[in-house]
Amino acid sequence: MIMTEILKVNPTAPEEEALNRGAAILRQGGLVAFPTETVYGLGASVYHQESVKRIFIAKGRPGDNPLIVHLYQWEQIAEIAAEIPERAVLLARHFWPGPLTLILPKKDSLPSEVSAGLPTVAIRVPAHPVALELLRRTQLPVAAPSANLSGRPSPTRGSHVVADLKGKIELILDAGPTGMGLESTVLDLTSVRPRILRPGGVTLEMLEAVLGAGEVEAPQFTKCDRPLAPGMKYRHYAPQAPLRLYTGDRDKINRYLLKIILRETGAGKKIGLLAFEEDRKDFPDLPGLSFFSLGERANPAEAAERLFNLLRLCDEVGVAAIYAVAPPRVGVGEAVFNRLWKASGGNVEEIK
Ligand code: TXA
Ligand code: MG
Repeated sequence: MIMTEILKVNPTAPEEEALNRGAAILRQGGLVAFPTETVYGLGASVYHQESVKRIFIAKGRPGDNPLIVHLYQWEQIAEIAAEIPERAVLLARHFWPGPLTLILPKKDSLPSEVSAGLPTVAIRVPAHPVALELLRRTQLPVAAPSANLSGRPSPTRGSHVVADLKGKIELILDAGPTGMGLESTVLDLTSVRPRILRPGGVTLEMLEAVLGAGEVEAPQFTKCDRPLAPGMKYRHYAPQAPLRLYTGDRDKINRYLLKIILRETGAGKKIGLLAFEEDRKDFPDLPGLSFFSLGERANPAEAAERLFNLLRLCDEVGVAAIYAVAPPRVGVGEAVFNRLWKASGGNVEEIK
């Protein structure tokens, strides 16, 4: 067990003391959890190989799942990537700092622990004052996966990091809720056509607005697919209770779900329902039913911000099963759908 220091930080005007403390620990090879605009990251200097190994141990992360290198300005990319195609420059200028991770060929000087032995490396510049200032002060590229135990929902609150990693890392910078709530879009630039490996806040439409229509390959996530991002082969974002995702016509889903929920709560089971504000009227207050709102259906950004926190709440309430109504797959709704799909482990039912 390690004594984990927990510092509250102002998210918009981070305190000098906290930033300097974080930078000093990173430079000495310690592990620091910090907020980004997507989710909290668990950082270590890329040049401290033992520390990078400790990230995998602290998270219980499989050793073949590579980490994202975080930079504070895009010019640092030359320190990490062996080749920087024109497309990368364009995208970096457009979207950094921001929730876009680029996969590029890696430099030999970057320790292989970071990329889990792959010849490529994931890189991004996060758009959060605490992350940016911490990275600037550290003056080193920082490898950081999401700061959760492997398989658990990613942390969108400091309290989530405390719950998962207290006693395992040196410092947690707690700046409250992150903004976006879902991890960055991962875009592979080493394939012939740029390919989305993980959908996120920077959507296909936004990428094609910069690279040209039809230039980007959409994310795939069916059960039998060969995993493209190494992280895609694991059951992810999983609450303790099994989650079933329902797609199709909303009214039909709600009628169908109400029948199941009446039966199961009637038998004394606790059920968690993830649905939209508009769905609330379709479900009466029932003992045993916890309705978790993903916000307004037309506003997927709201669902993105809430999702991981709600999945953790389902665990806290101790529900026996979670039923989720699929979001419309437009804009960031695609990323919300992707995370729900992964949390379900492919347990998806289409209601016609
Ligand atoms: O928003 C985010 O991206 C957050 C914050 C902390 O920056 N980070 C994050 O890291 O989500 P992590 O480790 O939880 O997810 C990184 C994803 C994994 O699915 C991993 O397999 C993939 O990126 N990845 C990393 N390096 C890769 C590479 N060289 N090739 C393909 N996929 C890679
Ligand atoms: Mg993660």
